[in-house]
Amino acid sequence: MKFFIDTADLSEIEEIASWGCLAGVTTNPSLYAKIGGKLADFEDHMVKICKLVGDDVPVSAESTATTTEGMIEEGRRLAALAPNIVVKLPICPEALAATRVLAEEGIRVNMTLIFSVPQALLAARAGARYISPFVGRFDDIGEDGIDQLDSVVSAVYNYDYGWWEDEGGVEIISASLRTAQHVTQAALMGADIATIPYATLKKCVTHPLTVNGLAAFEADWKKVTGAE
Ligand code: E4P
Repeated sequence: MKFFIDTADLSEIEEIASWGCLAGVTTNPSLYAKIGGKLADFEDHMVKICKLVGDDVPVSAESTATTTEGMIEEGRRLAALAPNIVVKLPICPEALAATRVLAEEGIRVNMTLIFSVPQALLAARAGARYISPFVGRFDDIGEDGIDQLDSVVSAVYNYDYGWWEDEGGVEIISASLRTAQHVTQAALMGADIATIPYATLKKCVTHPLTVNGLAAFEADWKKVTGAE
């Protein structure tokens, strides 16, 4: 499983990138609003993220256009900002049509707001490079988001799509993950990628037994060294 961070916050991205295992960044309009982002700065901010993580690390920048033509135009503009930009489009007929055009031009699309198997399969057929099924938002309405993700993973990997074969084909980004347990379950079902908020990534790197074990090692090492 590859680890992406789900944030538009530069300091969060910089800190997690320093761990040496960050494979991507996803943003969305809500995450950009959360950092106080302004429309005029949006493209510059995406470029800053792209430069911070390096050309090999995909950065999803979401289009807010509502027509196919608008998505194609914005997608081309976003893709021209940096080699690692991935155009994020929300699943709908207009976005499927735009994805097809962008994919034929070699522009990678991350199709987001996926909540069903048919949505995921349509995205893959249209040429999406990434498909982002959401987990936590199902849990929010009392449904089992992990079960839904499992169905999407099983269905999508049943088929070949003929797109992005030089990059290994379509990849599933488990999105809207809220807990380390979500990450575990997504990995066990073989989802390619988990995009994870900063706070959840911090929880993923620790465990109470790790903390206790380290404290014991430190205490015992003081006995060895004779330090106070
Ligand atoms: C995915 O790319 C989305 O940005 C994200 O995972 C949504 O998560 P949320 O449901 O916590 O807003």
